[in-house]
This record gives sequence, C-alpha cells and structure tokens, in this order.
Amino acid sequence: MPTSTPTPVSSPWWRTAVIYQVYPRSFADASGDGVGDLPGITSRLKHLADLGVDAVWLSPFYRSPQNDAGYDVSDYCDVDPLFGTLDDADALIARAHELGLRIIVDVVPNHSSSEHPWFQEALAAGPGSPERDRYIFREGRGADGSEPPNNWLSMFGGPAWTRITEADGRPGPWYLHLFDATQPDFDWTNPWVADRFDEVLRFWFDRGADGFRIDVAHGLAKAPSLPDFEVDPRRTGGEWAPDDHPYWGRAEVHPIWRRWRAIADSYDGDRALVAEAWVTPLSKLARWVRRDELHQAFNFGYLMTAWDAVELRAVIDESLAAFEGVGAPSTWVLSNHDTIRHPFRLSVAEQLPHGIGIGPKSADRPDESAALARGRAATLVMLALPGSAYLYQGEELGLPEAIDIPDEARQDPTWWRTPDGVYGRDGCRVPLPWEADAPAFGFSLTGKSWLPQPASWTKYAASAQAGVAGSTLEMYRSALRLRREHGLGQARITWNESIEDVLDFTVNDVRVIVNMSDTEVPLPRTEVLLASASPTGTLAHDTTVWLRA
Ligand code: GLC
Repeated sequence: MPTSTPTPVSSPWWRTAVIYQVYPRSFADASGDGVGDLPGITSRLKHLADLGVDAVWLSPFYRSPQNDAGYDVSDYCDVDPLFGTLDDADALIARAHELGLRIIVDVVPNHSSSEHPWFQEALAAGPGSPERDRYIFREGRGADGSEPPNNWLSMFGGPAWTRITEADGRPGPWYLHLFDATQPDFDWTNPWVADRFDEVLRFWFDRGADGFRIDVAHGLAKAPSLPDFEVDPRRTGGEWAPDDHPYWGRAEVHPIWRRWRAIADSYDGDRALVAEAWVTPLSKLARWVRRDELHQAFNFGYLMTAWDAVELRAVIDESLAAFEGVGAPSTWVLSNHDTIRHPFRLSVAEQLPHGIGIGPKSADRPDESAALARGRAATLVMLALPGSAYLYQGEELGLPEAIDIPDEARQDPTWWRTPDGVYGRDGCRVPLPWEADAPAFGFSLTGKSWLPQPASWTKYAASAQAGVAGSTLEMYRSALRLRREHGLGQARITWNESIEDVLDFTVNDVRVIVNMSDTEVPLPRTEVLLASASPTGTLAHDTTVWLRA
C-alpha cells in the first residue's frame, strides 16, 4: 500500500534533508577549557561533510549563565564567551557553506534567562510597569500571597512559580517558569515580545543562517486565566497536549508561526523552521507544519516508540499520513540532547514519558553490545524512510548512554530539582571521543572535559572506526550515501507481507527487512546493499538489511 507521495525533484532541500545536531559544549573544544566551542565545531565540520549530512543544527551558543546548558539565554544576538565570538559564528557559517552544509540555529522564545536585561528591567521597573508585562507575573494565593498562583509544575521538578522580593524588601508577586527558576516565561500576548523575536530571527537570517530550530514551540501560549491543572507527578509538566491543556499545544501559538513563516519566506534560499513541539497525536502536531506555518516538526511520536514491529509500523504509517495531510514532509528522529541515546533507550523498559533522562537511580542498564546492535538496526530503519531525518552527535559512533557519571559531576538541573534524583540528560551529553589515544579522546587538547568521558570509549572514537568495514561510523556513511543515491528521502514506501516481529518494506528500489523476532529469519537471495550486522544467509535478531529490490 503506497503511503506517501514522491516529492518533485525541484523540491526544497529541507524536505529530504538529513540534519545533524551539534551540541556545542560537547562537540569539540578548541580553547582547551573543557567546554566545546564554535572554533572547535568549525575545525571538525569536515567530519560532517564526509559523513554525508545536508545540514547542521547547532544547539544554543548565545550569551547565557548556562543554568540549562544555554537554553537560558541572556542575549539572543551575541555569542557566549564560553563558545567564542560573533566572528567565530560567522566563520563557522562560512566554512559550513563552503562544504555544502546548511546551518540551522536554535531560538528559545518561550523563556529567557532571568539574567536577560529584559527580565532585569522588569524586576527593576516594579509592579504595574510595561516592563513587567513582558513576562508572566501574578499575585500569589492565600491571605499573604505566599502560595503560588496555581499548581503548575516545572518540567525539571518543583513548582513552576518563583516569588520575587520587590526593591523595598517586601515580598512581591510570582513569575512563571515552566522550566528552571532562572528561565522566566515570556508573555506572548504582549506585542512587544513578538517584535523582539522578529528582530532575533532577522539578526541570524542576515548572518546567513539557513533556518531555526524552535525551542518549546508548543508552549508559548498559556490559558489566560492560568487555571490549575492536575498533573501526573511522573510527567512533571503534565499531559502532552489535550486541546484544553492550559500551556501545551494551545491553538494561540499558530499566529506566531504564521508571522515567523512570513519572515523566513522574505529571505532567499529556502530558509527553514523546525518545531520542537512535544504534541500528540501526530495529527495534531501536523497543525504546526501547515503550509503557512513551520516547515518541519520533530517527530517525537516516532522517537518515543518502543522497539516493537507492530508499534513501529503503526507510527510510520501514522506519521506519513499526518504530515502528508498538510503537505509537509515527515521527520524522523531517534536521539537528541534531551533523551536517552537510542541504543540504550530502545533497550530499557523504564524511561520518563517526556524523554528527559533515565529514571531515578536506574538499575535498568542494558548489555552494551546488544543495545548497540539494536540501535544500529533502528538507525537503518529510520534512514530508509521518506522525509527528513535528524541525527544527534555521537550516534554515528554508536555511543551508549553514559550512566556512571559521579553524582558531583552531574550538571542537569533535573538532578537537583527532583527529590529522588532523576539522572536527567547528562548521560547523552558527554563530550565526543574523536581520537582513541589522545587526552580527552581528542575532544580538547588539554584533556579537559566538562563531563567525564568513560574510559571504555576508546573503542567508540572516530579514529578507531574510520575506514573500518562494519564500524558504526562506516555504516552511517554508507547509509547516507545510499539514501541519496536511491532517492529514499523522496520515495514512496510499500509494505511487503512479513511474519510476526519482522518488518518488510520497499522504498524505490531498496527493500528493507528488519528482524525484531528472537530467531533468525530467512533472507531473499538478492544483493545486500547494507546491513546493520553482516547477514550470513539468514537475518539475525535485531538486524536490519537493505537489499536491492
Ligand atoms: C527544550 C530543550 C531542552 C531545554 C528546554 C528548555 O526542551 O531541548 O534542552 O532544557 O527546552 O529550554
């Protein structure tokens, strides 16, 4: 059954692009302080060109006190000295373009840092001032206002409200922060806020950015009365997005995206906007990518799907139907800087529903090589699918989630905001191993690393895998080359009949078979284009193969 329409050859790049996420503090450190930086990224862009990706998305590198690893921005139009300078950003964009890579930068419009001058001015200007109206300040409940205005919880644990003290020393109102207390939420009903973000978009588009990844693109609009909302404590921030949710996935966000689309369209070169929107079902998420809104949205429904043949086929069909219904490409993603690296995530039973890190003091740790085999099989499913795929740095090396980080080295605010110590996201943010024998595995010349790298990562280093047949790095390179050569990104997918726990589909002239059963399954006798583990006449458990159809 055909479930997607071929894209015309002239279609814009982002419809089929493979986009690689760089997490700047963990990619490559040129300054030697143990934190990755922009010159480090520039020096390693060739690795990404050789890998065969189309574009690079950079997580935030803007000025920030770094309370949420840069997602707490104190100046949207400058580079944090930790990462370099604006000149370094220009050099990075120029080098990427030279190599034929597009650059997508992150924009964080739901909240700023509490150190942003806009928030500092709001505090200083006092009650009733226009400056206060940039953010969401409300009086507390109870006789003396000492209770938060409502019961909303922060995504990182604890209340979503913090009370301020006015300049004269009296306790003041509370401000809303759906994330950390140092990340106050903007009031997007105030046109002043929208005008400032127009300027931010233009600033980076003018510098050559090819697009934006929009942080928390489901959260900017809040129900005006800020009603209480009964949350499931395991979900901290609440259900993803029933239509009447007071802050996730509300209809009032759509005019913002239409305004941003018009700005993107006013530039040349197919600039693209991608939503980070944790919205379910996918048919609802598709509203974010209607023709006059954003270009793409991360498919977290796909990311959160367990390693199960029935569920995987269902989410692929659901995705293709939902996005096609609004004329957008589907996207596919297995890993990012907020979720457990996919070889591990697909191999553990327990994870937080919103993906933020591994559960409290998890004892649930999979066998590393079995997890890698499954992760590689999952990658070869994803990279065969029509649309656009997102890779997260280090997945091309097969990195596992780093679980054994000493408590005192942990950095994610989730770690100290949750009473039972949820490990949070540090395990997927450990700096990359580039060279097997170098200090800090070549991440920094001085051997420093802001999170410790496990000693066992020698075998994952890029230098240990480059040119080695069958390595994860070579598997990714081959997959991206074949994906392009066989036009898989703009193909139509047809399901073939298969036995239980096996997926079998054809995309253009490539047949993909995925064995998720416990036993070996027979393989048709035809040319093997690529396999996640060498087939020996049969296909082993947790293996995906690409055959010439
Ligand atoms: C997004 C980011 C995450 C960040 C949060 C708050 O979910 O991906 O890393 O902590 O927004 O900005």
